[in-house]
Amino acid sequence: MKPYATRRAALIALMNAKGGGVAVIPTAPEVMRNSDADYPYRHDSYFYYLSGFTEPEAVVVLIAGKTNRSILFCRDKNIEREIWDGYRYGPEAAREKFGFDAAFAIDELDVEMPKLMANAPAIFYALGSDAQLDAQMQTWLQAVRAQARAGITAPAGAYDVHVLLNEMRLIKDADEIAIMKRAAAISGEAHARAMRVSRPGLHEYQIEAELLHEFRKNGSQFPAYTSIVATGANACVLHYRAGDAVLRDGDLVLIDAGCELDGYASDITRTYPANGRFSGPQKTLYEIVLAAQAAAIAEIRPGKRFTDGHDAAVRVLAQGMLDTGLLDRKKVGTLDDVIGKGDYRQFYMHRTGHWIGMDVHDVGEYRDPAPAGEEKPWRTLQPGMALTVEPGIYVRPAEGVPEQFWHIGIRIEDDALVTANGCEIITSAAPKTVADIEATMKQ
Ligand code: GLY
Ligand code: MN
Ligand code: MN
Repeated sequence: MKPYATRRAALIALMNAKGGGVAVIPTAPEVMRNSDADYPYRHDSYFYYLSGFTEPEAVVVLIAGKTNRSILFCRDKNIEREIWDGYRYGPEAAREKFGFDAAFAIDELDVEMPKLMANAPAIFYALGSDAQLDAQMQTWLQAVRAQARAGITAPAGAYDVHVLLNEMRLIKDADEIAIMKRAAAISGEAHARAMRVSRPGLHEYQIEAELLHEFRKNGSQFPAYTSIVATGANACVLHYRAGDAVLRDGDLVLIDAGCELDGYASDITRTYPANGRFSGPQKTLYEIVLAAQAAAIAEIRPGKRFTDGHDAAVRVLAQGMLDTGLLDRKKVGTLDDVIGKGDYRQFYMHRTGHWIGMDVHDVGEYRDPAPAGEEKPWRTLQPGMALTVEPGIYVRPAEGVPEQFWHIGIRIEDDALVTANGCEIITSAAPKTVADIEATMKQ
């Protein structure tokens, strides 16, 4: 349980730097779908980051002060419930296994919190993010204030603990990197599998089933997000979900799918021809997107800004749009005009990436600090950051747009880890070049 104890100690050090206090980080609630049937349970990422504990109804409490302590509240042992729902650690076994200084039953929370908060200088929790937690905090604070005449002081300060944790989570440690690489490898294999089984006549949902099979077979607990399997014109719908459309000879298939493994996401998009051979126009646009991605990846290294990759991708995409006639030079002018005025957005309307980690769109500021009143510059990349690189081109029919490109939607997405000198693409198990995709689909 070493990484979790190390992270708790690191957070406690940040709390002490602000004068100390008490942090409260609950896990996610269970959500009922209908009588007796819950939605699949997924822990809260912040809570898991500090605990490694996946049971519902649990709270991490950290005390930063003269003595630093980490405390876990969790469900008590309950033989009756364990017969129905399975094993629960209970406080004592959980304390031992997950390396906490103390553990209590979750039912003790309202009794223990006012004691733990008595005379603490500040509270650290996700301010205003969760109505239930805000209400609990109010109850506990009132219980502490009620003891004023006994000489007890209530916390006077409040900090958003997520702000501290977001910065920690932005830089992945060695344990996180190892899991993310495994998640990425599983997802890469799933994309290769989807390519191998695809052929005209199959439904999108049948391709989705292949992805899910590969994820789960390799130990992934869930998809990291709802899988997109979009064939033909559906590829131009950015948030399309795998549906019941049939793969047609001559159409492309765009798959955006990644598994979650042990709490970490992967996020891959590949686009390939349903029949295994790119047509001329498909290949032309594919090569532009691939070149845009390569240009973006070349901008990922320490010292570069988060948006340098996006800017590089946009340049390549915009040039490609001019070269292919997607954009009419006579109307839009030069490359710099297209970039300056944003005409490329007709075919490329999203950003080239986002942080990735425990959450697919992971936490972490996208801007560096700046003096008051000045615009914050985009974030400077550092080793340990992880981000996606996902340029695309989406051609909806419109007057003046060459018809041979209509309904083509292409995105290529990989996950990059910033290293000491550059970056490592951890999703390369998924075939990506035209030659590799066509060779994979022949198998
Ligand atoms: N799959 C979500 C995204 O690419 O951002
Ligand atoms: Mn994606
Ligand atoms: Mn993404």
